[in-house]
Amino acid sequence: MLGEALFSQVTMHATYGGIIPEIASRAHIEKVLPVVDEALAQAGIGIEAIDAVAVTRGPGLVGALLVGVQVGKALAWSRGLPLVGVNHLEGHLAAVFLGDGDKPAFPHLGLLVSGGHSEILVVEGHGRHRLLGATRDDAAGEAFDKVGKLCGMGYPAGPDIDRLATAGNPKAVAFPRAMKNRGYDMSFSGLKTAVAHHLQGHKPTGQVLADLCASFQAALVDQIVDKVERALVEEQLFELVVAGGVAANRGLRASLQAACDRRKATLFAPPPSRCTDNAAMIACAGYHRLLAGERADLSLNAVASLPLDPSQGATRSARKGPGAGRA
Ligand code: KG4
Ligand code: ZN
Repeated sequence: MLGEALFSQVTMHATYGGIIPEIASRAHIEKVLPVVDEALAQAGIGIEAIDAVAVTRGPGLVGALLVGVQVGKALAWSRGLPLVGVNHLEGHLAAVFLGDGDKPAFPHLGLLVSGGHSEILVVEGHGRHRLLGATRDDAAGEAFDKVGKLCGMGYPAGPDIDRLATAGNPKAVAFPRAMKNRGYDMSFSGLKTAVAHHLQGHKPTGQVLADLCASFQAALVDQIVDKVERALVEEQLFELVVAGGVAANRGLRASLQAACDRRKATLFAPPPSRCTDNAAMIACAGYHRLLAGERADLSLNAVASLPLDPSQGATRSARKGPGAGRA
């Protein structure tokens, strides 16, 4: 990779404890061209050296997506370049193909855990996915953020809970392991409610907070890893890719590694900076779509609920309505 740039809106959203769609869209308008310029400057090339444009077309907040899609289309049209639209979640799963490390073969098992989605899928090829199960309510990252908020932490809380959990006792509080024997679907909102009941409005500190973080994280990780391990066995797959912001979590990575060791499978986990949202993963997924001959025309549009597996309807988060459009 030659150059990449990222503008994170996290500090803007931290003020409000979450993403306000209107603020996110406006920030996209302000930042998108400076970020393109920065990536080109970092690569030491001009726009004339670009061969193709890949842009995220969904799922997510439609206002923010529209800004990217319009800019992608304008760049491609003005330079006469091929254009390709990419599913954001496909980008997360493609992050593992960046860099020089070993790469998984197809088919492999995919675990996608982000702020807006939690899905277990069979990745049959670049851009080809078969959904095995998904969260029925909150996404894993959403659970981290909501539990963090209950504890008085800033947004997003995932990285802080991850850090505090390393100093805590995961057996201190016996939070429920939901959805046992329920196929591959997951559920995290009951766990968040269990934490709320446990806290009863108190904001824990010190060792109590560390123990709570460790216990919550263990309950969430156990639920996910139990399903993933069963999927490895039942689908007879020996390679697992974990992707999305929550894939940066050390507890989850360690537990997935242990499950893979038990099943003689190989875990592929992108470095943490490639787990959270980034443009390189979209470029990577777009590259493979271009290689397969795909081209979008100027009718390309943003889609708020864009499933990875076309046999599925709207994505889980999109079905939950306004304010749930994070990918
Ligand atoms: O994939 P991502 O960057 O954005 C979406 O597409 O949603 O994921 C963001 C989510 C947030 O909920 C954040 O709290 C969570 O990923 N996250 C983590 C960690 N780093 C980010 N959750 C747990 N442990 C982490 N280390
Ligand atoms: Zn994401």
